[in-house]
Amino acid sequence: MKSDIVHEGLEGVVVTRTMLSRVDGEAGQLVIAGEDIETLAAHRSFEEATSRLFELAGLPSERMTERIAEGRALAFELLPRLEPALACREPMVALRVATDLLQEREVKDVAHLVGVLGFVAATHARRAAGKPALGPSGAGHAADVLRLFGEAAMPEGALDEARGRGLDAYLTTVIDHGMNASTFAARVVASTGSDVLSSVAAALGALKGPLHGGAPGPVLDMLDAIGEPENAMKWLEGQIAAKRRIMGMGHRVYRVRDPRAAVLEAACARLEAAGIRSARLPLARAVEKVARQVLAARYADRSLDTNVEFYTAVLLDTLGVARTHFSALFACGRVAGWLAHIAEQTAKGRLIRPDSLYVGPLPGRTG
Ligand code: COA
Repeated sequence: MKSDIVHEGLEGVVVTRTMLSRVDGEAGQLVIAGEDIETLAAHRSFEEATSRLFELAGLPSERMTERIAEGRALAFELLPRLEPALACREPMVALRVATDLLQEREVKDVAHLVGVLGFVAATHARRAAGKPALGPSGAGHAADVLRLFGEAAMPEGALDEARGRGLDAYLTTVIDHGMNASTFAARVVASTGSDVLSSVAAALGALKGPLHGGAPGPVLDMLDAIGEPENAMKWLEGQIAAKRRIMGMGHRVYRVRDPRAAVLEAACARLEAAGIRSARLPLARAVEKVARQVLAARYADRSLDTNVEFYTAVLLDTLGVARTHFSALFACGRVAGWLAHIAEQTAKGRLIRPDSLYVGPLPGRTG
């Protein structure tokens, strides 16, 4: 007997068992590969976090730094073929087109895909700034991606170790997050027996949306529009009155402040301590405070708090990345989680095929 209970948006519906990450929305706790996000971001590099996820998913997990660097080198080698991707206006479309242009047989190691996306994101940013492609190095992924981005987005000589660590903390923080929309999209495609590139392309399509990975650019637009802390209340109340969403606030699962917000805010503070000041950090903190108040007043029975995108915007801006490329960098971190989920789903071998409740016309009952 088919149930007529409908879970729009699948909220609270458990679709699978996973070894990879656990999101506790009530407690505001995020565990990734067996570690709290605070510990993971503070003590593991992006490559180490990737390696742990891959190991849990049954994928080869050794030599991660070298393998991801090989992926950047592979993309550099394939640059003439990737030209249509670099010519795309939108960075997220460029990443998706790049996955379409690769051939499955060329990606001998899924870790290479992590490197490919990082290289394409950075090279696309260079192209947008009118700069030629640069060859990758064998350094850590975050440092090299930032170096490649760097000449496009940062003032000359501004690169340093602290910035590399800042991006590394960001990529690690967003590496995986339970059954979020893009991960689910990847798993749905993988569950049909399709290939890894198609699964990653689906995930990229889902991440592009402003309700998922597309929010940090608009967070910065919001901070610019507010300008000064004393304007925050009026501006934010205006948004609510116009039934517009405050970007970087609210979450499908978290009923408290997203723990990643604190991790990324701390990464901004570390950059500041290293002498890399963010002009927007004090304003962001003030706007966050007012946004929480405004949302609490409007939605007394629904706790809407700061999500990961709020301080993503401040951190990536401080690192010198242009706001149009924020979502692409999100994809550069999350792709490692997608690949682990794709492997986990493939190992299960169960087609994901939910049901729907038909509410349309029935034969013979019209008019
Ligand atoms: N600003 C204003 N209102 C918001 C809001 C926000 N950021 N987030 C949720 N709401 C409102 C909804 O419009 C809804 O109002 P309604 O009952 O009057 O229609 C109410 O709060 C309950 O929404 P909820 O069910 O909690 O939201 P959701 O689970 O469907 O959406 C998000 C979750 C993330 C899509 C939503 O919070 C949002 O759009 N946030 C802004 C975009 C963003 O930062 N995305 C990144 C997520 S990591």
